Amino acid sequence: MEKFGKIKWTDKYRIGNVEINQERKELLATYNDFIDCVIENPNYKDFDDFLVEMIDLSKTHFEKEEDYLRKYSDESVEIHRVLHQSFLYEMDLYKIESSSGDSVEPFKVLNFIKTWWKNHTHSENFFSERIPVDVKKIESVFQ
Ligand SMILES: [Fe+2]
Repeated sequence: MEKFGKIKWTDKYRIGNVEINQERKELLATYNDFIDCVIENPNYKDFDDFLVEMIDLSKTHFEKEEDYLRKYSDESVEIHRVLHQSFLYEMDLYKIESSSGDSVEPFKVLNFIKTWWKNHTHSENFFSERIPVDVKKIESVFQ
C-alpha cells in the first residue's frame, strides 16, 4: 500500500457538473498539499488546520453533490448520503482526537482519505450512468 500516494485527477472523478468537479479538484489539491507538508516534516502532528479545511470543503461539496444527484435518482441518493456521512464522521473523530492533544498518525488519516475516495468513486459511477448523455456532453465542454 502506498503510504504517501497522491491522488491524481482523472476523468473518472468527473460527475457531469462543472462546479462539483472544480470542488473535487480543490479537495484533492488540499489532500495532496498536505502530503507535501508531511513529507517535508515527518514529525508533523498538527492536523487541526488540515482537518478543518478538509471537513469544511467536504461538507459543502457533499451537499451540492447530493442536490445534483437527487435530480436523477431520488431514492438511491440517500444511500450515497450515508457514505458521505461516514466520511465526515470519521474525519470528525480524527479532529476531536487531534484537538484534544492526542497525537494523530498522519499516515492513518491520509490512507483513510485516499481509500475512501477510491471506493467512493466506484459508487458514483452508478449515478454517472443515470445522468443523461446530453447533460454530460454540454458540461464536459466547460471542464
Ligand atoms: Fe459522493
